[in-house]
Amino acid sequence: MTSDIPVKIRPEIAALPPYKQGRQAGADAFKLSSNENPFDPLPGVIETVRSQTALNRYPDATASRLRERLAARFGVTPDEVHIGAGSVSILAQLLLAAAGPGDEVVYAWRSFEAYPGLAAVAGAKSVLVPITDDGRHDLQAMADAVTGRTRAVIVCSPNNPTGPIVTQAEFDAFVERVPADVLVILDEAYAEFVTDADAVDGEEVLASGRHPNVVVLRTFSKAYGLAGLRVGYAVGHSRILDAARSTAIPLSVTAQAEVAALASLDAEAELIERVASIAVRRDQLVAALREQGWRVPDAQGNFVWLSTGAETLAAAQAFEEGGVIVRPFAGDGIRISVGEAEAVDRVLEIAASVVSGLPEGHSGRGISGGLA
Ligand SMILES: Cc1ncc(COP(=O)(O)O)c(C=O)c1O
Repeated sequence: MTSDIPVKIRPEIAALPPYKQGRQAGADAFKLSSNENPFDPLPGVIETVRSQTALNRYPDATASRLRERLAARFGVTPDEVHIGAGSVSILAQLLLAAAGPGDEVVYAWRSFEAYPGLAAVAGAKSVLVPITDDGRHDLQAMADAVTGRTRAVIVCSPNNPTGPIVTQAEFDAFVERVPADVLVILDEAYAEFVTDADAVDGEEVLASGRHPNVVVLRTFSKAYGLAGLRVGYAVGHSRILDAARSTAIPLSVTAQAEVAALASLDAEAELIERVASIAVRRDQLVAALREQGWRVPDAQGNFVWLSTGAETLAAAQAFEEGGVIVRPFAGDGIRISVGEAEAVDRVLEIAASVVSGLPEGHSGRGISGGLA
């Protein structure tokens, strides 16, 4: 509907559903709807942010200290690193730079809910390639979907919201099939939580130097727990990143975000410990859900997926009534972030009653307690 907009708006933009954030939780509820980190910022972060008091000054436009730091870590030059106000903003910049009207952007579906809107804003057409029954990318089908009009392909590993990774072997075979002048965005927002040794690793893809068309996206929002400060990064060919820089809104990465990211990188040991504890909690949650009879795809991020299908909104309501805010995708499933230890217990209590109400043969139910 555009008739209620008082000015002329591009029809494809007016048609977009308004952005809906994961619901805020009341004081006694757990917010498990946005894949946030339940831990406080890493040691030293708050003090460092507090010390950044020159609020009357613009930040360093290219966050050069953070770029240098990440460049050293990835073994690239600072020009091959780009910082954004969250990795989602870099995703938007890359799509604006690569794909316009008449062009196509290929990605798996269901995947990160921001992809359709960002492609539409760029003016490009989304080509959605269905994920497999177990929530994985179908990379053969994605490669088949690439045409002469394709300007960008997005691979999300682990896939938000379903959870499985893309393997390194699958990714390598896929990139071989994609024309070298098509941008491949490897969205690794949850990379730090991955425990599957076969998973694609953007760092290795970049180190091989074989595919200059691949740009890796990572973020400080999830594992590093800096979602509120908005800071993410891309690593890839400097000329591709120059194009992203050209479409970026200048000066959006604050000095506070930059120093918080630097301080978080200094706390590597604590980071590893926290990430490992979330991964353990996640694996326990998945095992317990399967035990209850849920069919749960492999979970490699900080969230799990329940394929509640037509029962999705009712299931989300049951969680909410039990004090847990989850992310429902109507008609499809619900995503639940791995939060505080007490939140996991609460999730399991509610999940047990929800699964018992699902009819035999429902997509959310597993065969012998797993995916099998
Ligand atoms: C797959 C994926 N990519 C990117 C992002 C964006 O994260 P941010 O913009 O906070 O870096 C998210 C956040 O939920 C995500 O799930």
